[in-house]
Amino acid sequence: MTSAIIGAPKIRQTNLFIGGKWQESRGGKRFPTVNPVNEQLIVEVAEGNEADVDAAVKAARSAFESGPWSKMDARDRGRLMNKLADLMEANLDELAALETLDNGKPISDAKAADLPLAIDCIRYYAGWADKLTGDTIPIRGNYFCYTRREPVGVVGQIIPWNFPILMTAWKWGPALASGCTIVMKPAEQTPLTCLRLAELAHEAGFPDGVINIVTGYGQTGAAIVRHPGVDKIAFTGHYETAQKIMIDAAQTLKRITFELGGKSPNVVFADADIDAAVAGAEFGLFFNQGQCCCAGSRLFVEQSIYDTFVEKVVARAKTRRLGDPFDPKTTQGPQVDADQFNKILSYIDKGKSEGAQCLTGGRRFGNTGFFVEPTVFANVTDDMSIARDEIFGPVLSILPFKTTEEIIERANSTYYGLAAAVWTRDVVKAHQFAARVRAGTIWVNCYDVFDAAAPFGGFKMSGMGRELGAAALANYTESKTVTMSLA
Ligand code: NAI
Ligand code: MG
Repeated sequence: MTSAIIGAPKIRQTNLFIGGKWQESRGGKRFPTVNPVNEQLIVEVAEGNEADVDAAVKAARSAFESGPWSKMDARDRGRLMNKLADLMEANLDELAALETLDNGKPISDAKAADLPLAIDCIRYYAGWADKLTGDTIPIRGNYFCYTRREPVGVVGQIIPWNFPILMTAWKWGPALASGCTIVMKPAEQTPLTCLRLAELAHEAGFPDGVINIVTGYGQTGAAIVRHPGVDKIAFTGHYETAQKIMIDAAQTLKRITFELGGKSPNVVFADADIDAAVAGAEFGLFFNQGQCCCAGSRLFVEQSIYDTFVEKVVARAKTRRLGDPFDPKTTQGPQVDADQFNKILSYIDKGKSEGAQCLTGGRRFGNTGFFVEPTVFANVTDDMSIARDEIFGPVLSILPFKTTEEIIERANSTYYGLAAAVWTRDVVKAHQFAARVRAGTIWVNCYDVFDAAAPFGGFKMSGMGRELGAAALANYTESKTVTMSLA
């Protein structure tokens, strides 16, 4: 594909951001970040090593211990966060273009979803900065007892490539509001927007060392996890990486929170508003090229409407417009990199060889770039790999079901538990589903509705702890009990 990249953004920063200064890696290494549309190098970015991580942790520690961050008036911290949100808004077009360049997502999605959600998240947590209160506790005896909520300290934040700006905001928001300082590693596939956000934070007036960015691969992330000066790790990505992080973090008993993957059931009963459910099935799976932790990748449809529903979903999948993500009419861009592209194609092959029926798609789109056709499989059974494993691409499996009891059991028969959705006009059925399906988020007659105020996270192997809402603040604060004699 010839990508006439209209309005390609200027790349301003490709170095590490440590202690308020842009610097080369101490090891002198750089790594490529690639444009997934044409597989060409965009630019090389500094690859942080252990010494860089150590410098970043020291800068974060000093900003935390000697201030001004943790000692700053909480309202002033909130004010700086709002300033950052204002700058993100003022630079929305540029940030969206940079995200599209590095990740491949359609510019229309970046502008309408990623950026507004990220800005809202920073503003939401700016409002929390001066509202973290403790309790006064009536204990036995002549004492005055109260709790204080204090920042946990220096936090290591490791994020993936599917929503680089939004994941940065989800991580920075509660950490900054709580008074923590940050060492962040963006994903090696998409480092550019996180670096630009750090530059905007600097412009907003965040003190040096509050936000540090060390770019690199997994081993740079591992150096953050192993560093004894880091108090907490927040990670989003694959559960196998989380397992490694858990082992490394055990050495210093760091606090950890994980937001991992899923194989989310999207369940359509025959009494649902069918057209709304069809639209929700398409959006819930294909949004962001299928690269969503909460993708509705197991679409269960009640037997009596199965055939017509499948037909409608296939027709909708065929209307998706693949192409240059900078074209505002494009609805599906390339997958993020060659690894993801190959993983998805190999799952499509497995689906075919295990006997599922591929009704549309099933191949690469074009000859250049990591594009995969929107793919729909019918007659999928629960034991097939396409119904069990997270594919993280535009591949939808549709499975029939007969009864409510049966579908709740099948929805739960997965080691994941991130999200689930149900489409029905029967309120009793909807609430029973919501109560009995073991997942951190349940959508009723909607899909992928996110809000900075609503907690998000996983049961089972989909994660630990919750992001967003007041819940996320618990991840970044320690409770201290103070007891004073009144005798
Ligand atoms: P990953 O879990 O390897 O990468 C996520 C982040 O962790 C990146 O910044 C990476 O550099 C870092 N990392 C890797 N190894 C590390 C280590 N040992 N210690 C510390 N940090 C480390 O995920 P990857 O390889 O990009 O994608 C593989 C699969 O993971 C995808 O196909 C998808 O199934 C799933 N995934 C899920 C995401 C979600 O939102 N839940 C996001 C990205 C991937
Ligand atoms: Mg990996």
